[in-house]
Amino acid sequence: MDNINKNNESADQGIFIAFEGIDGSGKSTQITILNERMKEEGIHCYTTMEPTDSPFGSLIHQIMTGRIKTDNKVIAALFVADRLDHLLNDVDGIVNKINEGTTVLTDRYYFSSYAYHSVDMPMEWVIQANGQSSGILRPTVTIFIDTDPDTAMERIAKSRDHQELFEKKSRLVKVREKYFEAFEKLKGEERVIVIDGNRSVQEIADDIWERVKGFL
Ligand code: ADP
Ligand code: TYD
Repeated sequence: MDNINKNNESADQGIFIAFEGIDGSGKSTQITILNERMKEEGIHCYTTMEPTDSPFGSLIHQIMTGRIKTDNKVIAALFVADRLDHLLNDVDGIVNKINEGTTVLTDRYYFSSYAYHSVDMPMEWVIQANGQSSGILRPTVTIFIDTDPDTAMERIAKSRDHQELFEKKSRLVKVREKYFEAFEKLKGEERVIVIDGNRSVQEIADDIWERVKGFL
């Protein structure tokens, strides 16, 4: 397997954009719009998400919805495994796509682990546990959609028929803080763009497009 350059910047490789944010921040809405815009520009994108729909991701979904109970450390470790499979899977792994020149947009990547799991355990542990993934592929850019937890909660209440394990306001407030702590901690290694998510869908989409254009 070929490892990919830091912040994968080789000319013939596809770019890799990770979307991050608290639950309900608007990631999937914006990925759909960016994907369409890319298509209009003639750039074919592969869109994907974590947790994935692999057997590893399915286990995570069963924990998130309370069907399986386990310790938070086990959840963090399952995300590590799901992420590695997401990168390395022979059938639709991200590494192969990037090496073939495909642009990949993912709804969540390792910053989600750094932010969500460090509420209950040391962030350094989570970063170390994800060291294989960051060693294999860093995003060309991480786009953090920064939405106020109250606004995100209102959006979740309107759009979901059930609440998952982490969709509580007090938790989202902490997760948002942890994201910023992780960005600060890794500012020498990671390229992160923070986008104000408290605006209309269109305003956010235009802002993202202005920022992403430069990487194409
Ligand atoms: P995420 O993927 O981050 O959980 P979604 O994109 O699914 O968030 O958005 C959650 C809900 O909020 C959806 O119903 C979506 O239509 C709505 N939504 C997304 N962005 C905005 C926005 N800027 N203003 C108002 N509602 C939004
Ligand atoms: P999902 O329903 O896909 O969320 P959303 O549409 O809000 O992005 O559920 C993903 C949940 O998993 C979300 O609460 C964040 C959490 N998560 C982690 O705790 N660790 C991780 O590494 C990842 C990728 C997600």
